Amino acid sequence: MSPSEPPVLRRSQQLELYRRALGVMPGGTDSNFRTWGESTVYVDRGKGGRVWDIDGNEYIDLRMGYGPVILGHADERVDDHVADRMRRGVSFSLTSEDEVEAMGLVKELTGWVDKVRMTVSGTEATMHAMRVARAYTGRTKIVKFEGQYHGVHDYALISVTPNDMAELGDADNPVALAWGRGIPEAVSRTVIPARYNEMAVLRRIFERDGDDIAAVIVEPVLGNAQGILPRPGFHEEMRALTREFGALLIFDEVKTGFRFARGGAAEFFGVTPDLATFAKAMGNGYPAACFGGTDEVMSVLPDKVSHGGTYAGNRVAAAAAVATLRIIRDTNALQTIHDVGRAIQAGLSEVISERGLPYVFTGHPAMFGIMFTDQAPTEYRDWAGSDHELYDAVAVGMHARGAMPEPDSREPWFLCEAHAREDMVDRTVSIFADSLGAALDARARGELHPE
Ligand SMILES: Cc1ncc(COP(=O)(O)O)c(C=O)c1O
Repeated sequence: MSPSEPPVLRRSQQLELYRRALGVMPGGTDSNFRTWGESTVYVDRGKGGRVWDIDGNEYIDLRMGYGPVILGHADERVDDHVADRMRRGVSFSLTSEDEVEAMGLVKELTGWVDKVRMTVSGTEATMHAMRVARAYTGRTKIVKFEGQYHGVHDYALISVTPNDMAELGDADNPVALAWGRGIPEAVSRTVIPARYNEMAVLRRIFERDGDDIAAVIVEPVLGNAQGILPRPGFHEEMRALTREFGALLIFDEVKTGFRFARGGAAEFFGVTPDLATFAKAMGNGYPAACFGGTDEVMSVLPDKVSHGGTYAGNRVAAAAAVATLRIIRDTNALQTIHDVGRAIQAGLSEVISERGLPYVFTGHPAMFGIMFTDQAPTEYRDWAGSDHELYDAVAVGMHARGAMPEPDSREPWFLCEAHAREDMVDRTVSIFADSLGAALDARARGELHPE
């Protein structure tokens, strides 16, 4: 077999389960984002930086569950702690010491969060952060950036991820584009879309609607567009602008928290927001999440703002957060992940340069994107100008060869500590090289999706 020829993936068990699943779940999955038609993956297990599907195909996992698995799948240090704690019961709708310990670690690691509350998902965390901001300021509107994903509640699903940039409206005056039906127009009208890295647009929005704006919510990098980075000074200027108009700044650190640095993107970029949301890396894959902020802003809880949840602070999540955050605090795990990310990027650079293709790495070594473009992207609209068809074909080719990035060029690669332990750099780079070669051959033949 030539190096550019992919092995044939075994698919029979997955196809059978897909058909069975279609009978009980829309699209055969529990999330629209996992429905990949007949290529839908049904997972059997994961260990460290690898996953196996139910047909026994093994992959280097570069999705890591969209980011939460920061240490590696089935990490014994976390799982043993969770198993030990959960034997005492998991759900009481009473508060355990695990929660107090977990939230204490969030406070300690961020260094700026004074008070924090657990939720079960990032969606709940951003929903509550927005509500707290509205309650604290007495204002209604929230500014969010095009291409940013803050979960699946109604206020978050505005101008998220269209393929056709024209749907986002005029560049100087973006429109609120609801993602899918079922979102009341009255809700869309409370969300003002802005363009990431475009301070002039943001200032105009504040000059027009400043008295009604409760907060700007921003994912510090464009996590859903390959992690596009802020221009130098963007976060600082946004911090100053929100202060000038009496609005709050919310960092959605669901992906960046406890990944970019111990103190998340706030530490990494050196800008302190008023509120932040965390999830993913704080629980190594267990459903732990939280929102928190300064004493002053969080003082609207518990008396003036509703927040609750039967499973908020459940023991499984809280114990997972304790074990994971202790490891992040006490070991060099993050440095290890950053180093392995840089090593993979160095290998990919060589491969892409040999092919003479223009490319840009976006994001952070622990969570980076590859865009085939000669124009450094600064906002979501720039994704359209990258050669994402080529990227998509490479991603499909990587699946066939045993490595699994997300098959959507907008999603970055996520790395975990186990990728370094298991020495996966060379294999990842060689799978990428073969897939890129095959995709370019396919393009030369006029058929971009060869596999
Ligand atoms: C930045 C960001 N915020 C919020 C969410 C929603 O989190 P969850 O999927 O836990 O609801 C996500 C999920 O990917 C995210 O990336």
